[in-house]
Formats: sequence, structure tokens, C-alpha cells
Amino acid sequence: MKTSNLIVEKKKLAYGIHMFWIENELVANNAKAGQFVIFRIHENGERIPLTIAGVKDGTFRVIVKAVGKSTYELCRFEKGDKIIDIVGPLGQPSEIKNYGNVLVIGGGVGIATIIPIVKELKNHRNRVDVILAARNKDYFVLEEEFKEVDNLYFVTNDGSRGMKGYAHEMMEKLLKKKKYDISWAIGPSLMMKACSEVAKKYDLKIWVSLNAIMVDGTGMCGGCRVRISDELKYTCVDGPEFDGRLVDWESFNTRLIQYKEEEKLALEKYLEKVGEPTWL
Ligand SMILES: Cc1cc2nc3c(=O)[nH]c(=O)nc-3n(C[C@H](O)[C@H](O)[C@H](O)COP(=O)(O)OP(=O)(O)OC[C@H]3O[C@@H](n4cnc5c(N)ncnc54)[C@H](O)[C@@H]3O)c2cc1C
Ligand code: FES
Repeated sequence: MKTSNLIVEKKKLAYGIHMFWIENELVANNAKAGQFVIFRIHENGERIPLTIAGVKDGTFRVIVKAVGKSTYELCRFEKGDKIIDIVGPLGQPSEIKNYGNVLVIGGGVGIATIIPIVKELKNHRNRVDVILAARNKDYFVLEEEFKEVDNLYFVTNDGSRGMKGYAHEMMEKLLKKKKYDISWAIGPSLMMKACSEVAKKYDLKIWVSLNAIMVDGTGMCGGCRVRISDELKYTCVDGPEFDGRLVDWESFNTRLIQYKEEEKLALEKYLEKVGEPTWL
């Protein structure tokens, strides 16, 4: 079984957003929509959880957005480089079956991560409407992979393409005139929270994929714990997808920024060492 972890293809999709295809048959042959991997890119590297955004011929794909030291470092990797450790597939797969009318929302790098979910929903003969939301028109990555969907809507914060505004506003606009049986929203936590509020208002089930801070990814460290209704869950083994209407968003968002100062310092120190991140 080929598990070289070799980068066989790399492409910049937008500023700070890079696509990698990596040779690892173990991941590629077992991955299901909604699952993720954890990378370590060098001996002293942090662990980086990334959603599996496609598989083909013994390779799998991740789309990485550079947000801090580790992801800046990863985006510097090129075709021919190797990732030293990859664990996965991890997490519970998305619950895909024939529901009828489905609404899927992808925001920012979440646009890439909804692709396997949308494909599986179509394979199960659902009618799938998709909302893609981005800061501006340059961030609609891999748009050509949404050809099969029934209706595709674009939203940009600056109005450069599609509706000007936010994903949850378009979601509400659609819900006013059409009934959906289930929905997914994957993207920045503020977007997922806002979409979950809309879903609650319209009594619609909504899956969100939580990007909790993770360490081991196997339920041992407790780092990724989240409150769902009155229960504590581990995002890595119980999730990453949860019903957004039941997520305690306040504690989730507080935990997400708990190392903000350390993260800022780590990036500053890294950039002092390597200079301008011209590769982004
Ligand atoms: C299940 C899962 C799937 C993910 N899929 C993707 C993906 O497909 N593409 C992608 O670009 N990003 C994805 N992420 C987020 C990605 O893992 C983080 O952006 C990355 O670990 C940040 O590391 P950093 O050192 O570059 O940034 P840091 O400086 O560590 O942090 C910058 C920001 O990222 C958040 N963050 C830090 N560490 C983690 C962590 N281990 N997990 C989650 N968030 C973190 C912090 O709250 C902070 O806001 C996913 C996260 C999870 C949990
Ligand atoms: S990452 Fe350690 S318990 Fe989930």
C-alpha cells in the first residue's frame, strides 16, 4: 500500500489558499465525506487538522488556508515534498442519504470542504441547492466542481459577485420561498452560528463542521471538547459535524480564541525568521 505522503500536485487557488494532492492509499481508500486528517509537517510541528476534500487514484486532497504559523509553513510546501506524519481518516462521516431537498452552504475555505458532501448527496439522488459565500469574487475556489447541483447561489461581502451580504441572509431568502428537508453549513464559525440561528427559526436541521482546536484527534486529550445541548462532546471522535442548533456557540468561540496571543507571537517570530510570506 502506497503511503509515501508525497505531495504529487500543488496549486494556489487564491491568495493564501492552496490545494495539495497527497499520495496515501490508506487515507484515500477509506475516506468518507465529512472526515478529516491531521498533519504534522516536521519533527517539532504542531498538529494541523484538515478536511479531506476529495480522493482519486490512491491520493487525497486538502485545501489549506494560511491563518497562522503552521498553515503558513504548510503553504510553503511544494510538489515533491513529503508530509512527515498523516493520521486519518478521522471523525464521523457525514450522514448522507436520500432526504429530498437539501441546502448546502460553504463559506471561505468551507467552499472546498463541502465538495465531497455535495457529491455524495447527489449520488443519493437528492435535489441539492448550494450557497457559496466569500469575502469577494476571487475566493470562489473550485467553482467548476459544483456543476451537478440544482441551483447555485453566490454571496460576497463586498457585492463583487452575486448577492451582497452574508451567507445566512441568502439562506433566509431561500427558506422564505422553498422548503428544505435538511441543510449543511461549513465555514467560519460566525457564519455557521448565524446559519444555525436561521435554521432554528425555520425548524430546519443543520449540520455544521466544528473547527475546534485539536491535539491528538483521538479523544484522549480533551482539547476539542464542545458543549452540545447539555452534553460535552469531543469534536474529533463524536464530530466534527453536529446539529448547529444545539451547539453552545459562545463557549465554542471562546475556546477557539484562547491561544490568540501565543498564536500571534508564533507567527510574528516565524515571519521575522523567513521574511515576507511571498509564497502565499
Ligand atoms: C476537523 C477540522 C477540519 C479542518 N479543516 C480545515 C481545512 O480543510 N482547511 C483549512 O485551511 N483549515 C482547516 N481547519 C482549521 C486548521 O486546522 C487551522 O486553521 C490550523 O490548525 C491553524 O494552525 P496555525 O498554526 O496555522 O494557526 P494558529 O496560529 O494556531 O491559529 C490561527 C487560528 O486558527 C485556529 N486554530 C489553531 N489551531 C487549530 C487547530 N488545531 N484546529 C483548528 N483550529 C485551530 C485558532 O483558533 C486561530 O483562530 C480544520 C480544523 C478542524 C478541527
Ligand atoms: S483532539 Fe484531543 S480529544 Fe479531540
